[in-house]
Amino acid sequence: MKIIVTGGAGFIGSNFIFHMLNTYPNYRIICVDKLTYAGNLSTLKSVMDNSNFRFIKIDICDSEAIEQLFMEEKPDMVVNFAAESHVDRSIENPGIFLETNIMGTAVLMDACRKHGIKRYHQVSTDEVYGDLPLDRPDLLFTEETPLYASSPYSSSKAGADLLVLAYFRTYGLPVTISRCSNNYGPYHFPEKLIPLMIVNALNNKPLPVYGDGKNVRDWLYVEDHCKAIDLIIHKGREGEVYNVGGHNEMANIDIVKLICKELGKSEDLITYVTDRKGHDRRYAIDPTKIHTELGWLPETKFEDGIKKTIQWYLDNREWWEDIISGEYQHYYKKMYESKKE
Ligand code: NAD
Ligand code: TYD
Repeated sequence: MKIIVTGGAGFIGSNFIFHMLNTYPNYRIICVDKLTYAGNLSTLKSVMDNSNFRFIKIDICDSEAIEQLFMEEKPDMVVNFAAESHVDRSIENPGIFLETNIMGTAVLMDACRKHGIKRYHQVSTDEVYGDLPLDRPDLLFTEETPLYASSPYSSSKAGADLLVLAYFRTYGLPVTISRCSNNYGPYHFPEKLIPLMIVNALNNKPLPVYGDGKNVRDWLYVEDHCKAIDLIIHKGREGEVYNVGGHNEMANIDIVKLICKELGKSEDLITYVTDRKGHDRRYAIDPTKIHTELGWLPETKFEDGIKKTIQWYLDNREWWEDIISGEYQHYYKKMYESKKE
């Protein structure tokens, strides 16, 4: 089996590559990544010399380069993680989100259509459903919840999802979509809530909490998400959407306080700042479908996952210090451009 994994130098994509190479030593994994600010090739250091792994620096919007790659590799599957993924950046600059998240998806699916493929999997998000009220804990997102995205990021992901389903209906492309809740774990870029708070706390810097800090997210350990995608691409039904989440709703402020406690830092570091524009109040996933159809259940409890994650950031200071200093952006030139493939 040959699988193209796009966005594999980012947070979830890299964890997925490690999962797949460990679980299926005979599969060939081809990682396509543009190495934007969010892509960090040093994350993939441990698999770079694996003979079943190839890294190639490509923009998924570059149809010629994608065509060339499909001709060379003749992939069986594509799993598309590549995206602009940060809501705050999408509020500042929506254009690149539309470009990568929607147009990039179309380019990949056109190549799949032309070359034939066993499965195109779109890694989507629960944010396409918009948000839920805090005072209705009974309400959860199901696969039937209407798309009602709030931010340029989530609307670009919703647009891509509609396009994926349109390619299934119009062209019969064998697609699946997963819509997962917020992930946390190793290699999470320190601009997102959990890694930012860990890194800032370790540096005794202010911990910026948006608004009243009561916004709720449904956190899932990244490995559990990777296992869900593994199941969906092998056993999921074509044309179907699967919600992925672990019933683990937490208010932002409670997470930030927990991180302070685990690191022995004072809560005085917490600073309330101006709220995000259009800030979604609450996300909560109903994962009944993936559980009943595919037998998926999350394995890592939040209490354990957050401890593991904090320990990872303590043990891997160089990884995030290179990001803060900007050094990681030279990694490709230093370690890779000389070697090529
Ligand atoms: P990330 O920002 O850490 O990584 C994105 C990766 O995509 C980076 O390596 C980047 O270089 C690459 N990329 C960006 N534009 C590209 C382009 N045009 N061509 C090729 N590569 C490009 O993101 P993440 O948190 O790992 O998220 C991965 C996917 O999962 C995204 O599609 C996101 O929408 C989705 N998702 C994320 C979460 C979450 O909590 N992080 C939850 C649900 C779904
Ligand atoms: P984030 O990690 O950006 O994920 P998303 O917005 O995609 O869910 O943010 C998670 C929550 O944390 C969200 O409610 C916004 C909030 N937040 C802060 O309060 N402070 C911060 O510095 C960041 C980055 C996020």
